[in-house]
Amino acid sequence: MQTSKRLTLFRESVIRDMTRLALKHNAINLSQGFPDFDTPEPVKEAAVRAIQSGLNQYAITWGYPPLREKLAELYTARLGWNVHPDKHVTVTCGVSEGIITAVQSILNPGDEMLILEPAHDNFRPSAFIANAVPVSVALDAPDYRLEVAKLRAAVTPKTRAMLLNTPHNPTGRVFDQEEIAGVIEVVLENDLVLITDEIYDRILYDGRIHQSPGSLEPLKDRTITIGGLGKTFAMTGWRLGYVIAPERFAEGIRTLHDYTTICAATPLQAAAVAALAMPESFFEQTTSDYHQRRALIMEILTDVGFQASTPQGAYYIMADYSQLPIPQASLAPTEFAYFMASDVGVAVVPGDSFYSLEGYGRSTIRFAFPKKISTLEQAGERLLARLK
Ligand SMILES: Cc1ncc(COP(=O)(O)O)c(C=O)c1O
Repeated sequence: MQTSKRLTLFRESVIRDMTRLALKHNAINLSQGFPDFDTPEPVKEAAVRAIQSGLNQYAITWGYPPLREKLAELYTARLGWNVHPDKHVTVTCGVSEGIITAVQSILNPGDEMLILEPAHDNFRPSAFIANAVPVSVALDAPDYRLEVAKLRAAVTPKTRAMLLNTPHNPTGRVFDQEEIAGVIEVVLENDLVLITDEIYDRILYDGRIHQSPGSLEPLKDRTITIGGLGKTFAMTGWRLGYVIAPERFAEGIRTLHDYTTICAATPLQAAAVAALAMPESFFEQTTSDYHQRRALIMEILTDVGFQASTPQGAYYIMADYSQLPIPQASLAPTEFAYFMASDVGVAVVPGDSFYSLEGYGRSTIRFAFPKKISTLEQAGERLLARLK
């Protein structure tokens, strides 16, 4: 028996590999993007209450009604159109499922989908799983700006969609108005569907405010907006995401979601209502905590001699190690990441693993910093001791 041809096109995530490597070497894990601090108490308590009150069977496949109602309320305000809980909202098992389902629902075999690289590692596989073709457009270090001319040049008669992540993993970019205007042009000129991954919408710096591309007038009826709770509420293991889509897309998304997972975990969906109802003070505290973490990790990386742009959103930094005063500074990113985990005791992700494009991501590694200050300080001590 052979596995499907599709599976020859991608392999298991390098990020998960790096987490295993961190465990093997007892390294501080700044590779995979999950917090080492806990989910807010009221949200955990809501999950326990939901289980004890008997919310333990399948939910309606596209989502537990109070959660869909809450999401519809939030997204009506955010997107500026009337998001209906029964028509436009699908609760998924994480943003990952949301992306796979959205992509499968619109692409036919051979269709092309634009992706910006560096990219989160499930973007290209989401196209392959639909027997479609991801077409990558590079964002260049160190600014990682989206160049509209490059985006336009990547379009062919087969292009059907674009998948856009903002705030962006792994660069920390928040695409600005000029860049989004470029996306709008290319999407409209070519009658594309835009799929947005906005999982880091609540992790922003320096007073930035998230604007969903799907709220912009020309994109309203052609954008599938995907969000999730894992990052905002430090509960990546709960596997909760959602897709907000105009009706013509939502029906297909729900059908695929039904046959893929039936539904997300019912008691956790009930507790997600409590998460989304957290007071403004929680979000303010989260923002303030992330500013502290960002300042500390940037100070450490600069002190050690890495070159890195300060993130505008999300919780990652792409850092160039080529100027470090150590012989390993000439290693390729994968070898350097192995050296980091085994010899330095800090696990990171090789920068080139976020690109399929040849020659990109050289001499870079990604640090994830959703960690306690004490964890970052400990990582800093190891980095300073071994790399400086
Ligand atoms: C851009 C992006 N999208 C999606 C995901 C996965 O989200 P989830 O855990 O909700 O499936 C991640 C996780 O790191 C991410 O960075």
